[in-house]
Amino acid sequence: MTSPPSTVTLVAAVARNGVIGDRGDIPWRLPGEQARFKALTMGHVLVMGRRTYESIGRLLPGRTTVVVTRQPDWQPAGGRPDGILVTGSVEAALTHGRQLDERVFVAGGAQVYAAAMPAADVLELTWVDADPDGDTYFPDVDWTQWSEVRRETHQGWSGVRYARGAKKNETSCNASGSDGDIPREAPLLPGPPSGQ
Ligand SMILES: NC(=O)c1ccc[n+]([C@@H]2O[C@H](COP(=O)([O-])OP(=O)(O)OC[C@H]3O[C@@H](n4cnc5c(N)ncnc54)[C@H](OP(=O)(O)O)[C@@H]3O)[C@@H](O)[C@H]2O)c1
Repeated sequence: MTSPPSTVTLVAAVARNGVIGDRGDIPWRLPGEQARFKALTMGHVLVMGRRTYESIGRLLPGRTTVVVTRQPDWQPAGGRPDGILVTGSVEAALTHGRQLDERVFVAGGAQVYAAAMPAADVLELTWVDADPDGDTYFPDVDWTQWSEVRRETHQGWSGVRYARGAKKNETSCNASGSDGDIPREAPLLPGPPSGQ
């Protein structure tokens, strides 16, 4: 019996101005936003760039992490813990990830999002209601390829799922987690035009 093909999901928190990072870190802390990341990714495979791994500074528990680097002898500070794989390309990382799990999450940063975008089936974006200073931006998205299928709104941020080519909304939640109407306004810049 063959397994279903793995889903590749880009998971990112993106400010209104497109910023995702500043000087190696994420320039905001929002209640609930990291919990969303954890809930989405727990038990699955994370693919991330070497800089993002070093910015987190440790292996995230409960998730196999594939780190991408062009440095053949790169090692995490303090040695390589169980649950980390190191590959020399984003393609190899996705191949490894697909062999390990039916859900592969690409967790950044900008370079790795850009390289993985063509392989992505789903975007799980947290739109942050802020315009922080930053030096790292989410890559351009061809919004004609994506449709919003799920949205949850919270104080200061919205979690939105986009599926490639999908047309139908799955669900929408408000901050309390109950179903609600899908907001009519467009996702914040640099998101898709209204009605996506
Ligand atoms: N807001 C969010 O959701 C979010 C998520 C993740 C990260 N971030 C932020 O984003 C920033 C980091 O992003 P970044 O774009 O600078 O770095 P990154 O994508 O995390 O890592 C870049 C590194 O990954 C390796 N790499 C990238 N593309 C590769 C490829 N095609 N083949 C082989 N290796 C490749 C290289 O490592 P070597 O130099 O070792 O060769 C490169 O220097 C930080 O500020 C971080 O906090 C934000």
